[in-house]
Amino acid sequence: MMVKKYNPPKKTSSLLERAGEIYDYIPAVRTIENGAKPSDAEPGQETARDITPVAPSPMPMQVYDGPRVIVDRDKLREAGFIVPDGPVTGISEEFRIIKRQLLLAAKGNQRTNPVPNGERILICSAHPNEGKTFCALNLALSIAAEKDNEVLLVDADFAKPSILSSLGLEGNKGLMDALADPELLVEDCIIHTDIPGLAILPAGDQTNADTEYLASSRTEKVLNRLTQNNPHRIVIFDSPPALAASPASVLATHVGQVVMVVKADETTETALRDALSLLVGCEHIQLLLNGTKFSPTGRHFGSYYGYGE
Ligand SMILES: Nc1ncnc2c1ncn2[C@@H]1O[C@H](COP(=O)(O)OP(=O)(O)O)[C@@H](O)[C@H]1O
Ligand SMILES: [Mg+2]
Repeated sequence: MMVKKYNPPKKTSSLLERAGEIYDYIPAVRTIENGAKPSDAEPGQETARDITPVAPSPMPMQVYDGPRVIVDRDKLREAGFIVPDGPVTGISEEFRIIKRQLLLAAKGNQRTNPVPNGERILICSAHPNEGKTFCALNLALSIAAEKDNEVLLVDADFAKPSILSSLGLEGNKGLMDALADPELLVEDCIIHTDIPGLAILPAGDQTNADTEYLASSRTEKVLNRLTQNNPHRIVIFDSPPALAASPASVLATHVGQVVMVVKADETTETALRDALSLLVGCEHIQLLLNGTKFSPTGRHFGSYYGYGE
């Protein structure tokens, strides 16, 4: 009898790849780089894939010169987020690899066509507390650190917004207000931060009709305003949980990429399948494996089933 040897996934493959290795029998999931092999590089070492150039935008970067709010760096550090200009950590390395794959899909290069609306990325998960906000904010911080891109992080978890508090910022008008009030320009709700390249669009006032507003024909026009004069902008949406609230499935129809956060030892395959079936509005879905054990230093980010540190 043949015994198939079990090869545990390499520790150095990215969290997108590791999630794919666990859940790759779910046909709804596509990967950005078909046939991509897990990286053999040591952590911190760039691989050819990590540095795949993305197509430069023909338009110059627009430099915002208005007021900026100050982000509380200590708060970021305490919650285990990437700290701008801080030391290289396991977390910053993981998100560096994840962002390259997402940027490649958003912008394309000589070999790959950009995904339609790929610059709009929804960070979703099946349930609350699986790390959506953690991943959305870290991804935003990682992309903002690139000179050629800026990020607009949209708090789209309308019932439980947490982006502003994570950054130590005060409330403001936001996306839901701009959807509800045609007189309010969505760009006037954007908060520019003192982190170069990072702007925030708050969730706005809570309403019971959030799904209806999102499903209205005006939403696409409002979202277009976020990027129409700014091709360097990547828009990241921090989503509500797919199985707990209906806006997630509507949001999926407005974005080009969905990142599904799965909590390694908690998200069941059934929950994941159900959540994915609600997000069919987006064709480009990737899974991101979040760590089993949370630690403020991020040391355990990405470790799972005992194969991590
Ligand atoms: N990989 C991680 N490392 C450290 N803390 C994490 C990690 N993922 C999530 N957390 C923490 O777990 C809690 C829940 O995560 P959060 O991103 O708020 O979940 P969600 O947005 O899906 O409800 C937060 O306190 C967050 O900072
Ligand atoms: Mg959240």
